[in-house]
Amino acid sequence: MPAANSSAIPADVCIPDPFTTLTIDFFDDYSWRAFVAMVWPAAKGQRGAPDEKAPLSGPGPRVFETFKSLWEIFHQDGSAPAEFDAYEPPARNACRATTGFGSVVLASFNGIDDIGQAGIGELTGPLVAQNGRYVRYQTLYNKIAYDFIVRNRYYLRSSLPEVPTPRPALPVMQFPYGSIAIKAAWLDMKGFPAAQQRRFYTRSATVKEPATGKCSTVRVGLVGLHIVQKTSSRPQWIWSSFEQVDSVPLFQGGVGKFTFNDGTPAPMPAENPLPLVPLARQPAKPFNVLRARVSPVHEKTVFMNQRYHQLLEGTVWKYYNLITTQWPLLTGNQAVPVPPAQTGEIFFTFPGTGPGSSAASSWANVTMETFDQARPELGCMSCHNQARLGADFLWSVLDHAWPAKFGVAESAVRH
Ligand code: HEC
Repeated sequence: MPAANSSAIPADVCIPDPFTTLTIDFFDDYSWRAFVAMVWPAAKGQRGAPDEKAPLSGPGPRVFETFKSLWEIFHQDGSAPAEFDAYEPPARNACRATTGFGSVVLASFNGIDDIGQAGIGELTGPLVAQNGRYVRYQTLYNKIAYDFIVRNRYYLRSSLPEVPTPRPALPVMQFPYGSIAIKAAWLDMKGFPAAQQRRFYTRSATVKEPATGKCSTVRVGLVGLHIVQKTSSRPQWIWSSFEQVDSVPLFQGGVGKFTFNDGTPAPMPAENPLPLVPLARQPAKPFNVLRARVSPVHEKTVFMNQRYHQLLEGTVWKYYNLITTQWPLLTGNQAVPVPPAQTGEIFFTFPGTGPGSSAASSWANVTMETFDQARPELGCMSCHNQARLGADFLWSVLDHAWPAKFGVAESAVRH
């Protein structure tokens, strides 16, 4: 097991044998170690490798930013992607930006794929911050996952294996252990006071303005990060999710400056008031976001956050919180690996059926699944379970394999 403040991602969760009660501490500790490894400064000029000698507070692109992003894998014409370490030509991204070590391009050809939140395999409404800017979503794959996709030509819909009937016990596609997928949520920080911005990890990115199609270089802050890794003991992947600490009030009705709440008692709307189609121009009118009362961050997770904030003193990363780890549950000894045939259904996952269960915990990230917080059947694993048999839980393979089909949910269209 690498040290708690290390550039190496743990290969798996580490649970003492035997162990028969709630394993949340082990999973949350794993999640934090995974986070530290993913935000470690990247080795200069390389993709997907940490600079082991650099301190965590060192400058430069982070490891996860050097992974392969969706536009590099799933081309508009279905052509084969370049090797992991290479960079795709500018024409492949929606900004025609020349990219190199650590570049981040937040843009999509139709202008909404990177702005809509994720529903059940479809796009839903956008999230707007207090500065009127939309949150941008970026998905990335590490080398193990990327090479698997490319080797099997899964960037082509015609290569995706069909799920036969009767339905098999195992997914028709199984990523190798050590595969990592990341989903990052970024925000143009324009308008936030400097003192507030300093509490975010910020960097420059090429961002496309959806209303005009123009691209420019802006300073973006990391507001949320999902990390999932497929491990030999948890072939259903381990689902870790982080938020910047100033996203929403810690307690309902809390006062102060928040990224997604104006600090007034105004409630959060029950449904997203903003359509994705048509998309309102920026600055769009913000609404208040709150963490749902039924799914607070688990008290043990809060405790683990305090421990890691101390360890990360002197870095911007102490302003990030783990909000949940979801993992596949089994009965009995938790040190026993979970068989791959187990599904990601709600009964076989932490925190299970949510409200009222003794293990009540959040299962949604306010920056990414903003309106799914009150519905435990829409926790990470429950939703991704619908992509389990066809693509081993990874929705973006099903959505983006060429020709892409990433429709807009009816609820996100204003007629
Ligand atoms: C309501 C459904 C839903 C929920 C809930 C959900 N996701 Fe996703 N997620 C998606 C979809 C759809 C995509 C693919 C978006 C795309 O194609 O760009 C996605 C993408 C991702 C990706 C990139 C890899 C992939 O599968 O394509 C990660 C990582 C991820 N989600 C993690 C999480 C975590 C962690 C949670 C819980 C905190 C979560 N998701 C909750 C639907 C969901």
